[in-house]
Amino acid sequence: MESYRRLLLENKAWAKERTEIDPNYFKRLVDIQRPDFLWIGCSDSRVPANEITNTDPGEIFVHRNIANMVVHTDLNLLSVLQYAVQVLEVKHVIVCGHYGCGGVKAAMTHRELGLINKWLRNIKDVYRYHQDELEAMDEEHRTDRLVELNVMEQVMNLAKTSIIQAAWSRHQRPMLHGWVYRLQDGLLHELCQMDYDAKLDDIYRYDIP
Ligand code: CO
Repeated sequence: MESYRRLLLENKAWAKERTEIDPNYFKRLVDIQRPDFLWIGCSDSRVPANEITNTDPGEIFVHRNIANMVVHTDLNLLSVLQYAVQVLEVKHVIVCGHYGCGGVKAAMTHRELGLINKWLRNIKDVYRYHQDELEAMDEEHRTDRLVELNVMEQVMNLAKTSIIQAAWSRHQRPMLHGWVYRLQDGLLHELCQMDYDAKLDDIYRYDIP
């Protein structure tokens, strides 16, 4: 059997099992999507948002890219963010990184990777902001620390968007969170959070009408 066939077969089995446990399971999800959470995570196949938080379909709105980045010119991320904040009215936006992230590791090398250089450049900038702290560490801790610093920087990048600033001034939501996941034990750790009254460098503040 070709490997992709397994996915289609498993899907049938999954749908059957869900309906057996709860006959209204899919009916309930058809009518409304009202998740409380937007998840911005890494595309890494080992960090699936729903599985590691034991949540069901309908609970988390998900955006994933290499190294869980919030890049201000990324129309994909910004569209997801705007929809989640303005239409779905999520209460929490979670940026979730993970130790051992291949994107972060690659950004720490001099390898020429073509187009992906442009994406990883954003992580190299985070490295430069914290160069002294990072270069005082051994290599293993340095990678882990850059994963953490990168998550915190992306949370800050969310707060710099007019989408988040407008939502904060009008609705005092959502709360922003920076989390990191450890592949070795499957556990999430909180790194930082920002609320509507968080201090943000003044230069990044917009006059929200
Ligand atoms: Co990763």
